[in-house]
Amino acid sequence: MVMMSHKLEKFSKVFRPFVEKSWPDQASRLHQAINYCLAGDGKRVRAILSMLVSESHGQDSESALAGAVSVEMIHAYSLAHDDLPCMDNDDFRRGRPSLHKAFDEATALLAGDAILTDAMRVLADPQFFPHSPALTAEQRIWSLAELTRAAGGHGMVYGQDQDMHWTGRSDYDLKTLERIHRGKTGALLGASAALGAIAGGVPMETVGQWREFGVLMGLAFQAVDDVLDESDSTGKSKGKDKSQGKLTFLRFHSNDEVLSLARGYTDAAVALIPKGVDADQVIDFAQKLIFRQT
Ligand code: IPE
Ligand code: IPE
Ligand code: MG
Ligand code: MG
Ligand code: MG
Repeated sequence: MVMMSHKLEKFSKVFRPFVEKSWPDQASRLHQAINYCLAGDGKRVRAILSMLVSESHGQDSESALAGAVSVEMIHAYSLAHDDLPCMDNDDFRRGRPSLHKAFDEATALLAGDAILTDAMRVLADPQFFPHSPALTAEQRIWSLAELTRAAGGHGMVYGQDQDMHWTGRSDYDLKTLERIHRGKTGALLGASAALGAIAGGVPMETVGQWREFGVLMGLAFQAVDDVLDESDSTGKSKGKDKSQGKLTFLRFHSNDEVLSLARGYTDAAVALIPKGVDADQVIDFAQKLIFRQT
């Protein structure tokens, strides 16, 4: 994806060496699996969002890196577990075999567990990930509270549970779908924006505005993901949502209608950006994500 390639490069310059050093590829099978899961070719949308939000408040994006890394780690673990046979049973991810195919189910489960736990450590312990020296202890705790709230049983995991619950059923409505998508995808994008805002040094009320911005951006992001499920360009298996009976936006609308809904969610997100903030890059990023092909 060409958009924000300089931000992607900046993040990768920190993230790749961090992964190689923390989980060398030649180490134990578990560490190989962690390395495989994290080093895959993701778009790093959540990291880029965190960096852009902190920059919009005049901070160098260095301060957002610890949060950006931890949120990408949680996202990567969520994908590894999402692909397991007991969930979406997907064999391909990021253009190559998914984690349980490249290793085995138990290793994929454990690697996910380890990544989730280590993601907390990245934020909490300045020694573990020293790239954000400007983050105060209070900002780290606050970031942890945001991240755990978004990742846990009221956030992403709840969304995943609802996604599984509604798979193959027909007694759904649009509210149900919004609840699933807010949880499984909106929550973590909300945390990405919130963590960037915390690193940007803003007060709690402003963090809340950015969180809701990210949640709505996440709804738009998942709407486009639903459309892309039918395409060849994602590095994932094609057409799985339909064959598995997933509840997606395409159960309610045509592709074009879903894309225009995604535009509506993005506009609603942009309207929440705190006044007086120089957020042009964030807005540009959110708008371009609607037209992504991967
Ligand atoms: C895929 O997320 C799962 C969703 C929440 C839609 P991404 O599309 O961000 O996946 P990567 O990180 O680029 O592989
Ligand atoms: C997964 O949603 C969201 C999370 C992993 C939390 P999907 O199941 O639609 O994601 P893909 O299409 O497999 O990437
Ligand atoms: Mg899924
Ligand atoms: Mg899936
Ligand atoms: Mg999908």
